[in-house]
Amino acid sequence: MKTRDSGMPDQDWWESFFDPDGVLDALGLRHFDGPVVDVGCGYGTFTLAVARRSAQPVIAVDIEPVMVETTVRKARDAGFTHVLGRVADVTEASFGVDPGSAAVVLLFNLLHCEDPCALLRTAVLALRPGGRVAAIHWRSDVPTPRGPDLAIRPRPDTLRGWLIQAGLDITVEPLVLPPYHFGMVGKIPSGA
Ligand SMILES: C[S@@+](CC[C@H](N)C(=O)[O-])C[C@H]1O[C@@H](n2cnc3c(N)ncnc32)[C@H](O)[C@@H]1O
Repeated sequence: MKTRDSGMPDQDWWESFFDPDGVLDALGLRHFDGPVVDVGCGYGTFTLAVARRSAQPVIAVDIEPVMVETTVRKARDAGFTHVLGRVADVTEASFGVDPGSAAVVLLFNLLHCEDPCALLRTAVLALRPGGRVAAIHWRSDVPTPRGPDLAIRPRPDTLRGWLIQAGLDITVEPLVLPPYHFGMVGKIPSGA
């Protein structure tokens, strides 16, 4: 099932809201020691940014075939062969990677879904020991030109609590990603 309020506007407008490299840098996502999964990849805004900085496989998953096609085409046009597209409903199945295989899972602008904790549990199953979940979302403390209704938009403390509930240690505390987003990172505890 497509999660609530997850439709996409025009690509150029959407991509004007982000500095993808700035977001990845702020979240400490510079080096990857295994596959990266971009869950609900949309136009591949962050898939491409990861692919530019890592030769590891980047798996772009979306329920909308057109989003996966767009992302894979952009990757191919950029000369990347390590971006792999998967059409899948991530509320029904795994993220299309072997359990315990991913180094990083990106959950960007998705956790206003009906059951964010279930999605986080699926992310944890996909991760290898020491793997990380990075989550960003729209801010609620400033006006934003887009984003889900404030009633379902997660606040930083709420999202942080969900990561902890999923068994993750917070390694990057909630921070503002100007102008409209915030983000954080949680890691599988060592020895888990
Ligand atoms: C708001 S967009 C975010 C796109 C991207 N993560 C970004 O931040 O640029 C949410 C994306 O999740 C996808 N999506 C919604 N429900 C999904 C589901 N059940 N399984 C996989 N993808 C889903 C939508 O098609 C859409 O592309």
